[in-house]
Amino acid sequence: MTLFAATTALLFAAAGAHLPTRSLRGLSGDVLLPMVGIGTWQYNSTVAEAAVSTAFGLGYRHADTAVVYKNHLGVGAALRKSGLSRDQYFVTSKVPGGLNASATRAALDQALVDLGLDHVDLMLVHWPAPDGKAAVQEQWLALERWAKLGKARAVGVSHHCKTQLDWVLEVATVPVALNQNQYHIGMALDMQPRLHDKAYCESKGVVYMSYSSLCGPCPAPDNMELVTGNLVTSIGKKYNKTGAQVSLRWLVQQGIPVIPKTGNPTHLQENFDLFDFELSGKDMKALSRAVTPAGTPQNPDDAQDCAFEQPGLHFVHV
Ligand SMILES: *[C@@H]1O[C@H](CO)[C@@H](O)[C@H](O)[C@H]1NC(C)=O
Ligand SMILES: *[C@@H]1O[C@H](CO)[C@@H](O)[C@H](O)[C@H]1NC(C)=O
Ligand SMILES: *[C@@H]1O[C@H](CO)[C@@H](O)[C@H](O)[C@H]1NC(C)=O
Repeated sequence: MTLFAATTALLFAAAGAHLPTRSLRGLSGDVLLPMVGIGTWQYNSTVAEAAVSTAFGLGYRHADTAVVYKNHLGVGAALRKSGLSRDQYFVTSKVPGGLNASATRAALDQALVDLGLDHVDLMLVHWPAPDGKAAVQEQWLALERWAKLGKARAVGVSHHCKTQLDWVLEVATVPVALNQNQYHIGMALDMQPRLHDKAYCESKGVVYMSYSSLCGPCPAPDNMELVTGNLVTSIGKKYNKTGAQVSLRWLVQQGIPVIPKTGNPTHLQENFDLFDFELSGKDMKALSRAVTPAGTPQNPDDAQDCAFEQPGLHFVHV
């Protein structure tokens, strides 16, 4: 397994922001993914445009979106307004799972039109096609063909459990760069049952990435535990950091890229300010041993993303 320390690099120093990155295996060589980006799930175009603009003003250089978020127009507008050149920022999007090859191709082309870009840096299959192996493989190969036209520098998946990742790896002719999943403090001991665990992904060269890093979409009070809860705030006091910073640092210190979502400039700044301290081994262990908050129990399919792998299981979390 590659050590995080060995794969970090400083990008965009000219922007004044030191952005650690993680190296992904792209279609033609390595691609540097900023360790912290701005997520846009549940944001409409107006809100996404404002949040991405504020974030980029603070030095963020990675925006994460998806076709089903329906905010590509706003994200694209913010990217153009940033005044940055295309090679100075990183864009991730996701194509809905379960589309056949021609529908996948059409959705991918439309994504670029809406973003106003000629390529994305990373395109993911958002969730595994519910129809099983043949459908998962057909869609992956459609994504590959599209990426090979120069439309994506790297391709990967989201919500893919071990079995589904194996289906993709069986046919992939380009690297599967990354698997994006719900992951935060409270879930470390629950990794194995979920089957899309970090160790398995990394054994295959697939970078494991976290969404809902602060359990934001979790039902109250879980949605605040990683921000104002006792464990993270008491550890944070030792480092003069907030609970949210401890929660995010726990992830990035393990080499797990994050995309916390907020439009609040203070929180955006905090979420970005994770690289001038290091959690001790003892604190990392204490955080890893936490069993709350658990994975989102909002809907059973999502909570159990990978606890059971039945053909036809419908992945509704977007
Ligand atoms: C976008 O979302 C915001 C916040 O929820 C809301 O106030 C606004 O009306 C929405 N805009 C559109 C065009 O739906
Ligand atoms: C692919 O899916 C689209 C949209 O559902 C459908 O219209 C089309 O007939 C499908 N193509 C094939 C070859 O099944
Ligand atoms: C603690 O962090 C705050 C916010 O970043 C900063 O303003 C303050 O100077 C820090 N205090 C110490 C003692 O480093």
